Amino acid sequence: MLSRSLIVTLLCGGLVLVAWSCRGQEEGAETGEMPAAEAMQEVAPPDTTGAAVWEYLEAVDYTASWELWPEKGELYMGQEPHGALLTTYLNPAAYEAVTGMAGSMPVGAIIVKENYMPDSTLAAITIMYKVAGYDPDNNDWYWVKRLADGTIEVEGRGAGCIACHTAQRDNDFVFTGPLGGGEMGEM
Ligand code: HEC
Repeated sequence: MLSRSLIVTLLCGGLVLVAWSCRGQEEGAETGEMPAAEAMQEVAPPDTTGAAVWEYLEAVDYTASWELWPEKGELYMGQEPHGALLTTYLNPAAYEAVTGMAGSMPVGAIIVKENYMPDSTLAAITIMYKVAGYDPDNNDWYWVKRLADGTIEVEGRGAGCIACHTAQRDNDFVFTGPLGGGEMGEM
């Protein structure tokens, strides 16, 4: 015959086991969710089409997960031709290059500039994306201009974009701030 203390021990042991296995399930459910930063790295870099680049930007949620250009807030004053008010985002690779004054942007760098009208309505988004071997004569930049209505107006080796940005050839075609590689040019 089982002693009373043995019964109590068995009952308690059973309860502890049930509690422990429930906790295990909860933990499993938690690890199923991916933190935003990890989710971002899971998205493969985009192909060189305007549509693929835009899909990528939506997938990584660039406005939430990327840094603004250092010391430029949102809706800062821009020059012709881009818009009255600008907000410029850098992916992690581009941000590191700017803050570290790396001299130039690395392959994989993406700069996204939102161009707003004086009344703060979005007019267009212009993008520079550095792709290994894409355009060796012009520092391998891939250019995109997407209008607010979703029309891709420019994608590829944007001749108009390059014609103006080439003034900053010594600064890796970048106007907004120095990268530490050479003199900034005039527009
Ligand atoms: C007439 C000159 C000119 C043309 C053409 C031009 N840009 Fe720019 N771009 C600028 C200037 C100047 C800036 C700095 C921001 C500002 O003050 O407006 C800039 C900034 C940018 C930036 C932020 C990174 C940087 O270089 O500072 C991106 C991205 C960009 N332009 C993309 C484009 C794309 C894409 C095109 C073509 C569809 C284009 N640009 C055409 C002058 C030009």
